[in-house]
Amino acid sequence: MPPSSRLDRLPPYLFAELERKIAEKKAAGVDVISLGIGDPDTPTPAPVIEALAAAAADPGTHQYPSNRGRPELREAFARFYARRFGVDLDPDSEIIPALGAKECVFNLNLAFLDPDSVALAADPGYPVYTGGPLLAGAEAVLMPLVPELGFAPDIDAIGLDVAQRARLLYLNYPNNPTGAVVPDGLFERAVEFGRQHDVLIVHDASYTETTFDGYVAPSFLETPGAKEVGVEVFSLSKGWNMTGWRTAAIVGNADAVATYWKLKTNIDSGQFEAVQLATVRALDDGPPAEMPAIYQRRRDLVCDALREIGVEVTPPKGTIYVWAPVPEGHTSASYCELVLEESGVVVSPGGAYGPNGEGFFRISLTIGDDRLTEAVERLRGSLGG
Ligand SMILES: Cc1ncc(COP(=O)(O)O)c(C=O)c1O
Repeated sequence: MPPSSRLDRLPPYLFAELERKIAEKKAAGVDVISLGIGDPDTPTPAPVIEALAAAAADPGTHQYPSNRGRPELREAFARFYARRFGVDLDPDSEIIPALGAKECVFNLNLAFLDPDSVALAADPGYPVYTGGPLLAGAEAVLMPLVPELGFAPDIDAIGLDVAQRARLLYLNYPNNPTGAVVPDGLFERAVEFGRQHDVLIVHDASYTETTFDGYVAPSFLETPGAKEVGVEVFSLSKGWNMTGWRTAAIVGNADAVATYWKLKTNIDSGQFEAVQLATVRALDDGPPAEMPAIYQRRRDLVCDALREIGVEVTPPKGTIYVWAPVPEGHTSASYCELVLEESGVVVSPGGAYGPNGEGFFRISLTIGDDRLTEAVERLRGSLGG
């Protein structure tokens, strides 16, 4: 039975060869350590789990949820945004819960793009910003992120023809995969661009709660005028160690939030109400305070080891990733294969995140300290000197 031609539009899966090699190694009995995936290893805070258990025991949560989310949940997001970012949100019109940032970003493409339209997406970037527009039958136009510009897209370099066809522009700071934090003036420039070309600015705030060295990440909605032209997708996945729970929200411009909701009512039936009530608890408690220090320690461990094996790396101020250049003479893929071959450690090839990711690799910090220390020692032992 042939699949829809829509699936043919997706780019080839760049991890395929690496995955084949990992399977081969494991079959040969190698103890492979994966630093490939950004999925927190630390458990969700106990009070959130207790809130889930209590809510799940109440039959009142067992029926179809409302797709708009319980009022308590929308109010909890509003309280969190006011406390954390100083941003006022109307719980009735400016907040809708989502089943993770991934669902939300993907559905924004269906909600806003037509076949002749464009979504502007960072390169390298989270793959849903580029796969989503293709599956929606539209086009993704890449905005290069390069170290010389602090991994910020050059919005002034977007051609008029593209700007006129653009409906969405994706930003994400702290940034996956580069670990960059938002450079001064970028959010302001994005607001101007959104106004000028009637483009919805979508800021993916998946990593605002995971920052280091005293840096505090802003919300895009703190930028003057942001709510006129933009929305923010806020996720609890990374900051609260809740990737499996599927809990996030879209917040900001009321018309855009309503458009997203209109689409969503036709696609899913909302979030289990017990998860909604547990999310209220999570938001009111705030993210677990110990996590940034844990990741910062791991970041330093990794950056020190990389320097010792001759990889020049800038320690990131946020996210759960280290983004580093591959040594001369290698492509991203060839270096990741060498690392796997020599040390049994999996790191991600930068090219998998877009053409401008070529020449880099990504290490995820979401593995327990013992295994991370072992991975780092193997790298030193096999690739040092
Ligand atoms: C930039 C970015 N956005 C969204 C997501 C997915 O988040 P969620 O678990 O909320 O769907 C990820 C996960 O790695 C990510 O890196």
